[in-house]
This record gives sequence, C-alpha cells and structure tokens, in this order.
Amino acid sequence: MKKLLITGANGQLGRDLAIRAPEAVLISRQDLDITDRDAVLACLYTHKPEVVIHTAAMTAVDSCESEPDRAFTTNGLATRWMVEAADVVGARLITISTDYVFSGEPEGPDHPWHEWDAPDPRSIYGASKLAGESELRPNDTIVRTAWLAGIHGPNIVKTVLSMGLSGAEMKFVDDQIGSPTFTSDLADTLLWIADEGITGIVHATNEGYTSWFGYVQAILYAAGIDPALVSRISTHDLNPPRLARRPRYSVMDNTVLRSMDHQLPHYLETLEHSIGEIVASI
Ligand SMILES: NC(=O)c1ccc[n+]([C@@H]2O[C@H](COP(=O)([O-])OP(=O)(O)OC[C@H]3O[C@@H](n4cnc5c(N)ncnc54)[C@H](OP(=O)(O)O)[C@@H]3O)[C@@H](O)[C@H]2O)c1
Repeated sequence: MKKLLITGANGQLGRDLAIRAPEAVLISRQDLDITDRDAVLACLYTHKPEVVIHTAAMTAVDSCESEPDRAFTTNGLATRWMVEAADVVGARLITISTDYVFSGEPEGPDHPWHEWDAPDPRSIYGASKLAGESELRPNDTIVRTAWLAGIHGPNIVKTVLSMGLSGAEMKFVDDQIGSPTFTSDLADTLLWIADEGITGIVHATNEGYTSWFGYVQAILYAAGIDPALVSRISTHDLNPPRLARRPRYSVMDNTVLRSMDHQLPHYLETLEHSIGEIVASI
C-alpha cells in the first residue's frame, strides 16, 4: 500500500477511510485549514504522502448558496492548493466530487450520467465542486459520488431512523432520483482506486436507484419501523423551499469501474447489513 494522506478525516467518508487505512496520515480541520495555501504546502511537505485522498469540502448544499465565496474557496481554490502541494512532493491526488456537477435534466429520456457527459451544475455547490475538478492534473483522479450516508456523522439515514424510532411522521420528495451510496463501500473503492493507480474521472455509487421517498421507506423497513410513517410529496410542495436547486435525475453510470469488473454492492444490500450498527450509533 502506498503512503496515504486523508483530508477531511473527521467527516463521514473520512472516518470510514481512516478505519480501513490505519497507517494513513489523517488530517482533520483541527490539523489544517485547506483554504490556507501555505499550511497546505507545509502539511504535505511534512508528511510527504504518495497519494492524497482529499475528502474535505464544504458539503452543506444550501449554505453554499448563501455563502458562495466560502464554497468556491473551500471546494475550488483549496483543491488548487492541494494540487500545487502534491506537485512539490510528487504525490497523486484523488478528490471526491458529486452528481451535482450535472444538470439533473438529461436530454431525451432519463438515462444515467456517465463519466464523459458534459457537466452543467445548477447550484453553487455543484459549480464549486466542478471548479475543484478543473484544478486536477491528468494523472490525478476525480471520484464522483452521490447521496452519501454511513455510520459516522449526520446523514439522511440517521435522521430518518431518529424520527422513525420516535414515531414521527415525515414527508419526502418522490421526484428526485439518485443512487444512495454508503461511505463504507465508497471507502473500500477509493482505497482500491489508490492501489490500482486509476486516473481520470470515475463514477462510484452503490448499485440501484430510488427517490428520497423510496429511500426513506427502505430505511424504515430495514429497521423494522412502519414505512407508512413517510408520505410522498413533490419538490414543489417543500415548505420552505430549499435554497439550492437539487438535480431531478442524478443516477450515475459507473462505466469506468464496471469496465474493470469493480462494482459497489446494491444500496439495499449494504443498508440491510449495516442498519443494526447505524441504529446503535444514533
Ligand atoms: N455527503 C454527500 O452526500 C456527498 C455526495 C457527493 C459527494 N460528496 C463529497 O464527498 C466528500 C466527503 O463528503 P462527506 O459527506 O464525508 O462530508 P463531511 O462529512 O461534511 O466531511 C467534510 C469534512 O471537511 C471538513 N472541512 C470543511 N471545510 C474545511 C476546511 N476549510 N479545512 C479543513 N477541513 C474542512 C469538515 O470539517 P467540519 O466538520 O469541521 O466543517 C468535515 O470534516 C466531499 O468532498 C463531498 O463534497 C458528498
């Protein structure tokens, strides 16, 4: 295994990576502000990694709309500082990007976005992550993923379980479709990508897709909670409306991974076998 440095080590993906790569150098916000160019250079110069898995980002999608400068600095410019520093120490960079780089409105009938489709973000978050993508060198790697959840950190699965266990009724939209993805499966894939030295754009989501409403039903069902607690609404009915526009259809085709016979499990499979651990963690 190559010498790894992981940014965002206290984030939900970072923590799953840290468990799987105990020898890696773990960098959290307490160790490094990724927007500080000198500090980024000093950090990589001190640790001299061979591969950096850069997960740190501003991920609060609606906050990105109200704080665009912070979004572009954190998700765009900080990636430039990472690339500069990686250049100095001869490291390869693997950065995590998102389905939000796409419009969410495929031309013609809905079909999964693949790695060569043209990005066309409709939110500041998507645009700022695309800005980060544009900073990478040809031999770096962009791993686009979506709808992340897992055992660590706040996420949809934990929110729904907390509400469901207290018997609260909930409403979720049935007109936004995507691929729920577990940080445990993504972490395994990222370490495989690091090991294999795969470069370029790689889509990495769990198999399967659904709406948020469908996902919430599945979460409740997996935990033995009555799925009737959730009812379906449309994006139009959200009150208050969300600041950031969400993609309507953001299923991604994992073309590159599939060509290498690498597949993440179906999201329902991982949901089923991790639900007990997630319930225990809330
Ligand atoms: N969550 C999703 O559904 C999703 C979907 C697609 C792609 N992604 C991408 O996947 C990656 C991991 O996401 P995640 O869900 O694990 O995110 P997360 O839980 O929000 O973790 C991101 C981490 O980055 C840190 N960070 C933010 N600004 C920083 C700064 N200026 N300096 C240093 N650290 C900073 C955060 O620290 P604080 O907690 O202290 O702010 C946090 O620990 C991100 O690149 C994200 O854009 C996420």
